[in-house]
Amino acid sequence: MNLSKAIRKNIFQIVSHSSKVIKQDSYIIGGYVRDLLLRKIKSCDLDILTIGEGIRLAKEVAKNIYKYTKVFHPIRMFKRYGTAMLKYDNQTIEFVGSRIESYPNPNSRNPIVKLGTLQDDQNRRDFTINTLAISLNSNNYGELIDPFGGVSDLKNKILKTPLNADITYSDDPLRMLRAIRFATELQFFIEKKSFQSIKKNKNRINILPKERIIEEFNKILLSSKPSIGLLLMKKSGLLSIILPELSVLEGIEEKDGFKHKDNFYHTLQVVDNLSREKCNSLWLKWVGLLHDIGKTQTKKFFPKVGWTFHSHEYVGSQMISNIFKRLKLPKGNILKYVKKMVKNSYRPISLVGNNISDSAIRRLLFDLGNDIEDLIKLSLSDITTGSIEKKKQYENNISFLIKRIKQIENKDCIMNWKSPISGNDIMSAFDINPCKKIGIIKNYIKNSILEGKISNDFSSAYYFMLKKGKELGLKKK
Ligand code: CTP
Repeated sequence: MNLSKAIRKNIFQIVSHSSKVIKQDSYIIGGYVRDLLLRKIKSCDLDILTIGEGIRLAKEVAKNIYKYTKVFHPIRMFKRYGTAMLKYDNQTIEFVGSRIESYPNPNSRNPIVKLGTLQDDQNRRDFTINTLAISLNSNNYGELIDPFGGVSDLKNKILKTPLNADITYSDDPLRMLRAIRFATELQFFIEKKSFQSIKKNKNRINILPKERIIEEFNKILLSSKPSIGLLLMKKSGLLSIILPELSVLEGIEEKDGFKHKDNFYHTLQVVDNLSREKCNSLWLKWVGLLHDIGKTQTKKFFPKVGWTFHSHEYVGSQMISNIFKRLKLPKGNILKYVKKMVKNSYRPISLVGNNISDSAIRRLLFDLGNDIEDLIKLSLSDITTGSIEKKKQYENNISFLIKRIKQIENKDCIMNWKSPISGNDIMSAFDINPCKKIGIIKNYIKNSILEGKISNDFSSAYYFMLKKGKELGLKKK
């Protein structure tokens, strides 16, 4: 197959010319070729393989780009790995010399590297669909070099390792997660013996830095159907190593004719539903993933009543700091957001019916602020019942709640609420210094507004401040 028509960008001509000058054959390889054949060029990353030194080619390319554009494009060199990188025309171009890799240290995925041929380099790659190379050399410019049948695997939507899967996965265990990530993103199958090998090598995941695991995990979550990857992780045993709190949710228990739902499969559906809601917020997807993790600890059976999971949202939210710490996920506002959302995940569902009080809605708005929209998205995604009537009813409940939220917010402006009375107002009204009583008064005013005892304005709040101050033994200045 010749792809010269598909690689018309001038960067390819420049690399081709540079390779000729330094007498090092070069090829486009990896993800770019794969995505080109899949007609999904999404990435701005371009990998150039050269038979020789990557850095030498990069220098020559930079020189020729300068001749062509009169703009200097700096190279970043990674001498330890013999690779180099430069940015040109909104593309990150990585130059790597062809190599043979060996992995003598079982506790490390950093290989010992020797210079090799094109074929050696293709052998060391993870999947046949990633071994595809396009020649940039004048004798066969544009020719596709496909020693492992990568094109046919692309057509058949199958992920295979070029060599023995046990070696490919054991050498670099990140590839197990890459296999699952590609299977999710591209909706490909993982070849049976390859999947068996992932099962066998699953514990090798422990040698990976958490950041690399999370990078792949997040890509799975951000895909259009994360359940594919989550299920493959579960079936391979990787999930119980990475996120055991989620994998233990699997299973249905039945007692005296009472059954509960399978909370693992329910969670998968919730995360898929969030993707369908066009949610591309990674952290809301994490919320969906973790929203029921408290159910294992809170599960109880009551005769004649059935299964309950009281306070699972609270218990779940308390588990999140440890999970985030273990997986080296962000701290600060992101962690706070995920905890808050899980803790409140059940609230919209509990606020149903015609007699929801205004104050319950004001409290919800106050606690959630701008995150109310995400909470509603989560609640809609949380509806996974198979019964069409129930689904309709739950959705109607949420629509009704949205209407009420809009009414109350328009009237009371609670979402970005700021107390109409500040600490300074209180100190100057009673001529006092900072003390506990100020907090008590502010809290009293806040609760009075949320409960609808007073309206959200300065004069009503001022009157209540004087009232509470008097109760606390304070005298107006
Ligand atoms: N590769 C590999 N093993 C890894 C990572 C990468 O064999 N653990 C090889 C694959 O041939 C891959 C290429 O290096 O195609 C480039 O890697 P990278 O840029 O990380 O991935 P892409 O395949 O380009 O795809 P994506 O950007 O979606 O990760």
